[in-house]
Amino acid sequence: MQRSLILLKPDCVQRRLIGEVISRFEAKGLQIVGLKMLQVTPELSQQHYAEHVEKPFYKSLEDFITSAPVVAIALEGLDAIGVVREMLGATNGLKAAPGTLRGDFSSSRQMNLVHASDSEESAKRELALYFKPEEFCDYTLNLVPFMR
Ligand code: PPS
Repeated sequence: MQRSLILLKPDCVQRRLIGEVISRFEAKGLQIVGLKMLQVTPELSQQHYAEHVEKPFYKSLEDFITSAPVVAIALEGLDAIGVVREMLGATNGLKAAPGTLRGDFSSSRQMNLVHASDSEESAKRELALYFKPEEFCDYTLNLVPFMR
């Protein structure tokens, strides 16, 4: 099992696509084990995008990611990191294949709807940025005991 850090970015929130995106993850069989809405600060942006801070596009990326709330999700499942990246499609929405989330809902490299961890190492690092250990909910999918 793997856990991945997903961020529904400001464009996703502003366009009221939160439900649409979460529905796709749930339909795929991925399990939400952490969920919160928050405002990313410049400090958090610099930590999250540490490898991009020196890049020419970073200022624009920081302005964007801090422009409105995001929804942070910890998603769990078999090979969850790779599965989510496949579901998102290419970084640039213009190049993302139809049927992927970005392919269907984005035409931009910056406003590309969703961020997802790209490796186990970055997932561990990013999950720790957005969630305290006690904020993860470990649970088994089973309603049978409550069927009365
Ligand atoms: S890179 O350069 O290949 O390492 O970048 P990439 O992995 O494709 O993208 C990393 C995140 O940076 C954002 N990005 C940009 N934002 C604004 N302008 C430009 N030109 C740009 N290029 C990349 C991109 O949306 C990625 O954000 P996340 O949140 O990781 O999807």
